[in-house]
Amino acid sequence: MRRPWKKAVVTGAVFGDEGKGKVVDDLAEAADFVIRYMGGGNAGHTVVIGDRSYALHLLPSGIFRAGLTNVVGPGVAFELKIGTHEIALAKAHGSTILLDMGAPVVLPIHRALDLGRELAARSQAIGTTKQGIGPTYGDFWMRRGVRLGDLRSESRVREALTRGGYWKEVLALGHFLDLDDCLAADSLSLGMDPMDLDATVRWCMQHADVVCGHLADTRAIIQEADHEGKRLLFEGAQGILLDTFQGTWPYCTSSLCTPAGVSATFGIYRFDRVIGITKAYATRVGSGPFPTELDDETGEQLRQRGHEFGTTTGRPRRCGWLDLPALRYACRMGGVTELIITKLDVLTGMNLFVATSYEENDTRSSLTAEVMANAVPVYSAVPGWSQDITTAKQWSDLPLAARGFVGKIERETNVPVSGVSVGPERSQLIWT
Ligand code: IMP
Repeated sequence: MRRPWKKAVVTGAVFGDEGKGKVVDDLAEAADFVIRYMGGGNAGHTVVIGDRSYALHLLPSGIFRAGLTNVVGPGVAFELKIGTHEIALAKAHGSTILLDMGAPVVLPIHRALDLGRELAARSQAIGTTKQGIGPTYGDFWMRRGVRLGDLRSESRVREALTRGGYWKEVLALGHFLDLDDCLAADSLSLGMDPMDLDATVRWCMQHADVVCGHLADTRAIIQEADHEGKRLLFEGAQGILLDTFQGTWPYCTSSLCTPAGVSATFGIYRFDRVIGITKAYATRVGSGPFPTELDDETGEQLRQRGHEFGTTTGRPRRCGWLDLPALRYACRMGGVTELIITKLDVLTGMNLFVATSYEENDTRSSLTAEVMANAVPVYSAVPGWSQDITTAKQWSDLPLAARGFVGKIERETNVPVSGVSVGPERSQLIWT
């Protein structure tokens, strides 16, 4: 249902890649501000407009709506090369971009450290996107590193890189991880030596002109806009089960994916709608427990039919049946007030199953990595449908079985489903 709202959060409900970009693009039509609140270049939000498909990594998915203000908040790990590229795209579509001065900058050394740590971890690697996310947030919480506002002068950047012996530590870590060898073995296309201080300062300043034209105190602006009753749409990255606290730590990302990320960064605590996005089945990229994973033909069928290959990394995604205990838990921990089910069309013509519980699981326990790794799903068969649903325009166009599938999700999670998506296009989102 297209319900009115003033403050809404869109977040991935499970392991990310659920199709938030499309939902944000749709809701953005009624928004005054679209605000990306966490994550970085690890995210890949796809928006399809006509015959063009755009993959965004950093800027909010509202940039395709002219006249909107798109905000990158202080909690976003901002990679300058990706960011400046996307700013040019936003300008071409006539939207305004504001970047928070406090947002941490992802430096080339962060990407190199991400790679180096993953290689050093061998079989225990997390399977990160190698976008430097963990090292950037790590430094940020350690109160080190460059922030976007530092790009206003070369001396500020240099000071930020050397303050308190920061760069000396970086070099020691780089040598400890044999970064020279790692980079020779697996090129990140950095185009520079990430351990070279002067080159890093130059790299930052190369992007300074573009960035500085958009710097703002976005927290003050959003607080003011909230006070004036403007419509604020907050776009999360990844999913609730990849959140550092609520997810399957250490197999998670290094930021807050739930609405807590909005509260922590913008001081906004009440929302009219918290929209969790889930696929009609389950996917995961990287390592970590995945109870309903299908390591068989059906999994491969889901992967091919759903084009389940990473937007950022191109990696094949792990696929499986919808995991309702995980979704139920994620909705609770993320304060989700409604769900949108994406990729319902992918299930057409299949014999369907969903996991409704885990064997011998205490339903009160948190779904930690350990609990999930030991979970044995109990499946329930669900009636399928064979009609093409990609041309459905409204809820009543969907076959009874497809509506029944959605109804089962509502009953099992106790969260209403407000929309379903039956294809990648803007027009293929149906509000129930
Ligand atoms: P990082 O965020 O690159 O450090 O990766 C940590 C974990 O989160 C890995 O398992 C990644 O595959 C996963 N991850 C990070 N970003 C995304 C995303 O946008 N979609 C799905 N998984 C993600």
